Amino acid sequence: MTSLNLESVALTLVAEGKGILAADETTPTLTKRFDTLGIQSTERSRRTYREMLFTCPGAVEFISGVIMYDETIRQRSSDGTPLAEILTARGIVPGIKVDTGAKPLAGSPNETVTEGLDGLRDRLREYHAMGARFAKWRAVIHVTDTLPSAACVSANAHALARYASLCQEQELVPIVEPEVLMDGSHTIERCEEVTGVVLHAVFHALFEQGVALEGILLKPNMVIAGKECTRPASVEEVAAATLGCLRRHAPAAVPGIVFLSGGQHARLATAHLNAINRLASSKPWKVSFSYGRALQDPALEAWNGRDENLAAGQQAFYQRASLNGAASVGKYADEMEAASLSGDDPLHRRDWRDD
Ligand code: 13P
Repeated sequence: MTSLNLESVALTLVAEGKGILAADETTPTLTKRFDTLGIQSTERSRRTYREMLFTCPGAVEFISGVIMYDETIRQRSSDGTPLAEILTARGIVPGIKVDTGAKPLAGSPNETVTEGLDGLRDRLREYHAMGARFAKWRAVIHVTDTLPSAACVSANAHALARYASLCQEQELVPIVEPEVLMDGSHTIERCEEVTGVVLHAVFHALFEQGVALEGILLKPNMVIAGKECTRPASVEEVAAATLGCLRRHAPAAVPGIVFLSGGQHARLATAHLNAINRLASSKPWKVSFSYGRALQDPALEAWNGRDENLAAGQQAFYQRASLNGAASVGKYADEMEAASLSGDDPLHRRDWRDD
């Protein structure tokens, strides 16, 4: 039995027309992103950036929750209010990344296993006391003709399930994120095959660890061709393959599926989400977003580290959030981009997420 509380937080996070902002980049990853724009990365500049996003006027219409990084949940805004409190006061649920990163998997040099279980119970207790009501753990799966190995899939699935079980014990909704990477030249069919294997293993492990599916959210990749694939898939192909794979592998008890963007261009990530939601096949779960790059890229560029651009950064973030909010109910249309400040360069894609 899940606690009603966990179920109600999970349902709040996938409320109609809303999704999650993933703003939990580690300091090295955010620094890399700042570097590409020549922005200095300091404790203060990172806080200013996050505060700009968290206080964006009107964003609460489309943003149900925010995933923070450890540094952020401990920070106070410019007026001294803890950032988590600012979110809660605005009706946005604070969340926290709790894994400690993908580390080389012993015996398989090109694969990783995500770490962070040691001491996790105590950390979850502390985060809950700081206001967090949900958490995130990201497993990373590399695809080649021969990878992932069975060892990689089972080690990551096991860790995700142990994490999820600890979260529920501590009254935090676990976001379970097994990410099959877009890196490589694999086809969409290969991505579908691997995603299916991984989801199957993850739900088996969740069952073994006694995790209540009513009190989790699944954060998967979309089923999509690798970045170097010579045969890219259309929006309709991605939508059909993604929904088909999820219908086969994600039980109906899960309240919501919130996709990661994984390095897709912001507009394409929105178009894919919209196309999935427009498909006629039934969806037993809410289908929405938990994007990092696809929500933040335009805002980061518009801000560019300058105080005088804070309003422009917020406007760019609002645009992306509202368009993804529309996509989460299948009401996005390409023409809606015209009014957007988010740029129109499909080649301009960031590949900085390596934590
Ligand atoms: P992206 O949307 O940039 O892939 O980030 C989502 C996320 O939280 C990955 O862990």
